[in-house]
Amino acid sequence: MRVSTINLLLLAAILLAPGCNGRKASSVGSDHSVEARVERLLSRMTLAEKIGQMNQVSAGGDVAGYAEALRNGQIGSILNEVDPVKINEFQRICMEESRLGIPLLVARDVIHGFHTVFPIPLGLAATFDPQLVEEGARVAAVEATSQGVRWTFSPMLDIARDPRWGRIAEGSGEDTWLDSRMAEAMVYGYQGRTADSTSMSACIKHFVGYGAAEGGRDYNSTFISERQLRNIYLPPFEAAVKAGAHTLMTSFNDNDGVPSTGNAFILKDVLRKEWGFDGLVVTDWNSMGEMVSHGFGTDRKDVAAKAVAAGVDMDMMTFGFISHLEELVHSGAVKESAINDAVRNILRIKFLLGLFEHPYVDVEASRAVQYAPGHLDAARRTAEESAILLKNDGLLPLDGNSLRRILVTGPLADAPHDQLGTWAFDGEKSHTVTPLAALRERFGARVDYVPGLTYSRQTRERFDDVVAAARKADVVLAFVGEEAILSGEAHCLSDLNLVGSQSELLEALKATGKPVAAVVMAGRPLTIGRDLDNCDALLYSFHPGTMGGPALANLLLGDAVPSGKTPVTFPATVGQVPMYYNHNMTGRPYRNEKLMQDIELEAGQTSLGNTSYYLDSGASPLFPFGYGLSYTTFEYSDQKLDKDVYSPKDTITVSFTLANTGKYDATEVVQVYVRDLVGSVTRPVKELKGFDRITLAAGARRTVQMSIPVRELAFWGLDGRKKVEPGDFQLWVAPDSASGTPLSFKVR
Ligand code: NOJ
Repeated sequence: MRVSTINLLLLAAILLAPGCNGRKASSVGSDHSVEARVERLLSRMTLAEKIGQMNQVSAGGDVAGYAEALRNGQIGSILNEVDPVKINEFQRICMEESRLGIPLLVARDVIHGFHTVFPIPLGLAATFDPQLVEEGARVAAVEATSQGVRWTFSPMLDIARDPRWGRIAEGSGEDTWLDSRMAEAMVYGYQGRTADSTSMSACIKHFVGYGAAEGGRDYNSTFISERQLRNIYLPPFEAAVKAGAHTLMTSFNDNDGVPSTGNAFILKDVLRKEWGFDGLVVTDWNSMGEMVSHGFGTDRKDVAAKAVAAGVDMDMMTFGFISHLEELVHSGAVKESAINDAVRNILRIKFLLGLFEHPYVDVEASRAVQYAPGHLDAARRTAEESAILLKNDGLLPLDGNSLRRILVTGPLADAPHDQLGTWAFDGEKSHTVTPLAALRERFGARVDYVPGLTYSRQTRERFDDVVAAARKADVVLAFVGEEAILSGEAHCLSDLNLVGSQSELLEALKATGKPVAAVVMAGRPLTIGRDLDNCDALLYSFHPGTMGGPALANLLLGDAVPSGKTPVTFPATVGQVPMYYNHNMTGRPYRNEKLMQDIELEAGQTSLGNTSYYLDSGASPLFPFGYGLSYTTFEYSDQKLDKDVYSPKDTITVSFTLANTGKYDATEVVQVYVRDLVGSVTRPVKELKGFDRITLAAGARRTVQMSIPVRELAFWGLDGRKKVEPGDFQLWVAPDSASGTPLSFKVR
């Protein structure tokens, strides 16, 4: 058959069109020139060199120790080296002394800032401010890339409904919608809206379901159904892939018996085929090797074959690929085409980052970038927005001028390392400003500092010294909570009360009759019900980072007004866990049953209540998701929908009036929740579908409009397909997940 010239021209035009070189558009943004370079290089590589690219090692400090392997092309990526001089040397060996001159991908856990540390990710989520979070991730990328780190293992997108799990600190909390918006913000921030030498590849992790560890115990098994995976756990990852995330990390857990590192359903069917991801998939640290401990493979060789078959491209620290893949390919157990695909995914990212052209950094210039004033300012603003006011009997904001003596107390008042939070490898104590330092800077000798407890877990019978100081003070500022070491990876708790004698300290302070403002710094929501009674105001700050001190001082003194909202439900007691706002509707929803202690038993009574609640702690949390006070008050009125009936292609517009009815200019995080009343499967009682930060001057009011595309109401129903099911819905515009009056609408 003759092919006409026109047809040939058409074919050429299609192949040369941007993002279209005979394959689907690239999720990570590569184009035909990148793809052509990948193919050219791949065609020159030996099998051993290909497998070398798939090997990631922790090479911290040891240039000489790894030089030989680098020269031989046996390492594709290193982690845990941040010294720009050493990174340049690592790159030089690869570029000049290895056969093909392929640069290294240098990775680091830059989780919430590099040198300038921002609030922990849970605190970032409390801002409900994706724009600010993107700005913070950009700062982290600018600082880290200037030292040669071009790949961060962040953002962590694990939905966490259990605060016993220490890693709740590293994610955005319990909500799928909020997590998805934070995911996009961090991907854009790290990688940059346009690629340049400050682009740092994001790594979305841990794929998937890791935050649902049974009992909140790290590394534990999960049992998430496919519907639950698709409705709750996968959407943040999909949002991040759509935002162009370059890389993804498999998780440690087995879900329903299948470890993620060997799970072809999630890594191939969902990630590659459904979402079109063409970035790089890396294992978690030795998670491939741990498939042997799981009993999912006999030895390192067996699990290496299983990981490649499942769709893993790079092995972090199992040394399973480098030791066994060549043999596995020769024996036919692993196809070379699978190795080629993995190497394509790795090289694609190296080309996209421009590493072949610019493998080295300017060591002198990198120094000037760290802790730049603009970076510290962004960290302070973020810490201000992330603090949540949970109680205020009118004590805050303090009037600084009228205070003659201020008692600063508590184990977190001057704990620079601890206020940085978990995963702050590169933040330095010497650059961290604590609340004590910030308050002394403002008030000088008017500040008395008596810590009471030198660390949170300390126990003490009496607090005579602190109590004596409190008696002399006009106000007591107590900084309590948990040190960084009590949350994060493998740091889980089975009790969520303030540890040590911190509650007793607050009790003793309150007994003096002096006004007490408590500030809790923590990596998770703690069960602070008892402590609320022992203070007049309580500000909750997830570990706030380098500029936590000035931010908290500004909030306490009214130079900033709290606007943070809880990104996760605060349970009243640990026994309520898991407690999250978007639970499914049960057949016997809670209806104000009496608590055990209030019930008068009648003779022969056989039941104390027939709805879904706890006899001793009811069905309500201490604070619901989305909750947070301000120094001002906001009123919502005139909530209206633009229609009563929508088609699946419509966009819902809800309008309302927001009025600042108090005395302070302030920002309110307005939230939109939706409930699908009847579904082919049981639906959540409500789900967040939108939020916005609205700033209003004292006394001002504004009509606000928010848009929710009806397609956002789609879910995976009984037929295993994602769609909007027609029917009746309710919609709330509210200051948190537990308030507001619903509006009704239909989808037809
Ligand atoms: C293990 C952690 O689970 C993961 O989050 C981290 O990125 C890697 N170690 C690398 O440090």
